[in-house]
Amino acid sequence: MSDWQTSDWRNKPRVQMPDYPDMDALNKVEAQLSKYPPLVFAGEARRLKSELAAAGRGEAFLLQGGDCAEAFDQFSADSIRDTFKVMLQMAVVLTFGAKVPVIKVGRMAGQFAKPRSAPTEVKDGVELPSYRGDIINELDFTSKARIPDPAKMLQAYTQAAATLNLLRAFSTGGYADVNQVHSWTLGFTEGEKAARYRDVATRISDALDFMNAAGLDADNTHALQSVDFYTSHEALLLEYEEALTRVDSTTGKWLAGSGHFVWIGDRTRQPDGAHVTFLKGVQNPIGIKTGPSITTDDLKSLIATLNPENEEGRITLINRFGAGKVGDHLPQLIRAVNEEGFNVTWVCDPMHGNTIKSATGYKTRPFESVLREVREFFAVHGAEGSVPGGVHFEMTGQDVTECTGGVREVTDEDLSDRYHTACDPRLNASQSLELAFLVAEELTARRAKVASAAAS
Ligand code: PEP
Ligand code: CO
Repeated sequence: MSDWQTSDWRNKPRVQMPDYPDMDALNKVEAQLSKYPPLVFAGEARRLKSELAAAGRGEAFLLQGGDCAEAFDQFSADSIRDTFKVMLQMAVVLTFGAKVPVIKVGRMAGQFAKPRSAPTEVKDGVELPSYRGDIINELDFTSKARIPDPAKMLQAYTQAAATLNLLRAFSTGGYADVNQVHSWTLGFTEGEKAARYRDVATRISDALDFMNAAGLDADNTHALQSVDFYTSHEALLLEYEEALTRVDSTTGKWLAGSGHFVWIGDRTRQPDGAHVTFLKGVQNPIGIKTGPSITTDDLKSLIATLNPENEEGRITLINRFGAGKVGDHLPQLIRAVNEEGFNVTWVCDPMHGNTIKSATGYKTRPFESVLREVREFFAVHGAEGSVPGGVHFEMTGQDVTECTGGVREVTDEDLSDRYHTACDPRLNASQSLELAFLVAEELTARRAKVASAAAS
């Protein structure tokens, strides 16, 4: 890709990006950002890529999760800590089921720009441009708030840098030490899921006690004391992405320095569009969201463009069809990928195909539909003999009421209690853990099936 330039996307058709009214201000912000340090480093992105390659082979499993949209006014150390903690808990539960390493990737430290289904929004007869995420404009319903302001990119960069700084401290500073497995319980001390989590935690601490007694001192085992936690977001706002793209001095290749893993949304994956043109030149592992509208030909040409060398770990396909629809779409995509011999990692996003409007007027997702899509994803991979490589959730460690259902039943009427998302509805801590147990059961069943096939 030697003749690729970070600005090539500027000559391509672009969708879902703002038209900034003040070009001077935009140019100044881009110039400033391009002098700032990158947020992530090439060696980290390469390590994640090799871990995702393992997930594609069934030797690891991806857990990707976080906010639909990070927001400036919800930025706090507590909310970062709580999401990090729930992801650690989920990872413990998944590792127990899968018996393979769980790769932890947050939708964090850069998930600010949102594609929208309509360019404008109408309220009480007033029409205004849509909100596109805090990096672009503001959620308030006034014409001033909806004007795209390039200075917001600088605030997003600052928030991303501070978030990543805290995540790095949590990952290596003792907090993520597996000996702390009991202290990661988050508020929920009652209920069936909490008891199941405590049971898993006890089995893990028993294993650690055994290792200690046998002289394999867990305190001296670096691998158990820290975790690798990666960041990801949709690479939507290409001015921001381009300004943070840097040459990696070890390989001479380009790296999107805004996050370890970046993805292309279901609405911006036109094979000759701006977003694909940008992402084809950076070496990061990348995701492609695939919804019901993708054809096998689109998918083949996208993968061929984005991964001409068929590098393992480069492409993660994040499927989001909706409950009841996985069987209509996923089998032919799997067969097309196999026919071409493409290396990919298959991941299930059971959120974006299951958004509905509640009777009380909120955008929500029934927990039942989320569970059902996950089950269908595993069933299709079981039937096709392919590898379910991971899951992708919109979730938070906060006790919100945004998705209905779950063991602590959230009803349509409850949604207004703690509905805080700036965009799509997220699973709360208890729903996230419940889902992790379901995925762990699916992984355990799959492991048993693979083992018995190998034995016969
Ligand atoms: C998202 O992940 O928040 C999103 C907008 O996804 P999709 O592109 O799959 O709709
Ligand atoms: Co979303």
